[in-house]
Amino acid sequence: MVITKKTAQKRIEALRSEILRHNHNYYVLNMPEISDFEYDVLLMELQALENKFPELITPDSPTQVVGSDLSNGEVPQEFEQAPHQYPMLSLSNTYDLQELTAFDERIRKTGASDFTYACELKFDGTAICLTYENGRLLRAITRGDGTIGDVVTQNVRTIPQIPSTLPSISGFDSKMRFEIRGEIYMPFSSFEALNAEREPENRFANPRNAASGSLKLLNPEEVRKRGLHCVLYQLLGENLPFDSHQAAMQTAKQLGFPISEYSKICHNLEEVMAFIRQWDEQRHQLPFPIDGIVIKVNELSIRELVGATAKAPRWATAFKFKAEEAHTRILSIDYQVGRTGAITPVANLEPVQLSGTMVKRASLHNLEQMRLLDVHLNDWVVVEKGGEIIPKITRVDVSKRDPNNCQLPQWPECCPDCGTPLVIEDDEARHYCPNQEGCPTQTKAWLLHFVSRKAMDIHAGEATIEQLYNQGYVQSLPDFYRITREQLLTLPAWKERSAERFLQSVEASKQVPFARVLFALGIRHIGETTAKNLVEHFKTMDQLQAADRETLLAVQDIGEVVADSMLDYFRTPRHQQMIKSLQQLGLQFQSTEAGWVQHSLALAGKTIVISGTFSRSRDEIKKLIQLHSGKNTGSVSGKTSFLLAGNEPGPDKVRKAESLGIPILDEDAFNALINSNNNTENQ
Ligand code: IVH
Repeated sequence: MVITKKTAQKRIEALRSEILRHNHNYYVLNMPEISDFEYDVLLMELQALENKFPELITPDSPTQVVGSDLSNGEVPQEFEQAPHQYPMLSLSNTYDLQELTAFDERIRKTGASDFTYACELKFDGTAICLTYENGRLLRAITRGDGTIGDVVTQNVRTIPQIPSTLPSISGFDSKMRFEIRGEIYMPFSSFEALNAEREPENRFANPRNAASGSLKLLNPEEVRKRGLHCVLYQLLGENLPFDSHQAAMQTAKQLGFPISEYSKICHNLEEVMAFIRQWDEQRHQLPFPIDGIVIKVNELSIRELVGATAKAPRWATAFKFKAEEAHTRILSIDYQVGRTGAITPVANLEPVQLSGTMVKRASLHNLEQMRLLDVHLNDWVVVEKGGEIIPKITRVDVSKRDPNNCQLPQWPECCPDCGTPLVIEDDEARHYCPNQEGCPTQTKAWLLHFVSRKAMDIHAGEATIEQLYNQGYVQSLPDFYRITREQLLTLPAWKERSAERFLQSVEASKQVPFARVLFALGIRHIGETTAKNLVEHFKTMDQLQAADRETLLAVQDIGEVVADSMLDYFRTPRHQQMIKSLQQLGLQFQSTEAGWVQHSLALAGKTIVISGTFSRSRDEIKKLIQLHSGKNTGSVSGKTSFLLAGNEPGPDKVRKAESLGIPILDEDAFNALINSNNNTENQ
């Protein structure tokens, strides 16, 4: 087809803006909408058009610049940024074995001969650049836009395989300044554990997103828990004593760096292709995700001869594996209601073999996704299993649609379980059943969550919950603590021993720490980690319940979604009542963290603003307020109980307090107040 320059220009512009949007989704939001393959197809189309009309190439075209993972104002994380000493280039890539011949020919055309290829797994994570000096890790920077990256040193230090100091070895001065680059990735085991503790709507789509999202967390302690791994594959510096990549990697290994154990030196293209075929077959047995094979010239002198473009070296390329796909038909669509009431459409498929397993069902995520895919019943669809664990439907093969035998699926207006009309949230993407307490599926899922190992660890599985719920013995959380041995023994298959074990675990759960109790309540968006952060900050349920939006938002890693969910939850009278019952039944509702014991209730219900300097540090004053059950907020308002004013208090705060008639106490009065009431209930 002949294409005019004008048409090409139009298409180029459309492709560029489409690609930029996907770059943003991928690098910044960590939420790609399309597969790598689909992305590469767009890029290749753009490249082909630019090859045809080189005059239309602009320096900011996505073909000319490296994608960027730099944090920007649109994401909450803000890291210091630093330039790379050597630009971090990307790699050319192909999905076609034939193109490797062209890659090899391009290298030989420069006069290069008598060289080998180092073939390596292409780890599917996020690139990192580590700088060492004087035998110590100086800093770690993400790729960013290839020139400048985010400084994530503290987070990288939490990855156990990365050495913070280097040993002395022979043949390499480990005190010299050098860079070592590689990939931070998340093994499948860490990925599954991480997603298991997140609400379905907050789960990471694949280990790559989970790795890059984790690396950009603000709290290194959280990063440590994410189970990230690292592999290093490039050493850079001035006057390095190596003549080959293989020799550099051997030295890296001696220095204690994690390097890949799956690399191979290949002497010709046949060996390269055999390596690729081998790993295309075996990749599913690896405990971590890979998305291809990287082929690099091994000899460093040849690399120099071959050179690089502004974007990528000419001496290396990536062969990318296509995510495995299968074609099958949609037989029907089920709508499932989860613990939080979210409705998920699940397609029942004509069974099909995919990456060694038989796939019968695939998630369609939500209504928005169904609309985007334009799914009809009886449609032929493409199912893909990429880095993800759960297969997903990536597209509909409209050409195979039978116009006489395809119906648009009916989206339910009511909960498939309890019949309550659904409510719509998040720009119509998510539908919820609002009947949290009365919807049997939600209630049972909620009870099951409460008893789960990471929550209250009560001996009850799905079948037990089903029995207890259907029998009417347990309909809400406090019921677990009221159930009797006699009641249990009326249930089919329950014997003395099983009843005893169950009741013992219920009793033991009264010692479960507050953070786990908070997680166990099943409040929307409150996962294990968020619960821990909240408890660390507020210490008691009373203080947590008293916190306003502003105070909640001041807590590390607590955003608006979590804050609003907490406020919503505590505002509901039946939740307040339930918490009161659980408190009376003996569950832990305050932190037992070392050094923290509630001293008194002297300031319970009091909201205190502090200003000025005191005989103790402000942090000590804040801690005292907390220990005596009060709440500290930043600004004076009608809700303030008193202003605690030290030396030179802020005049604005004093004026505001005076105008609102709010008492102003000095440090002595404050001391008297907290010492007046020694009813240390919890000691
Ligand atoms: S070498 C200039 N080796 O793939 C060449 N990269 O798509 C530097 N990657 O930016 C890269 N495994 O983040 C190299 N064994 C490997 C790799 C690898 C994964 C990543 C890396 C790179 C990206 C290119």
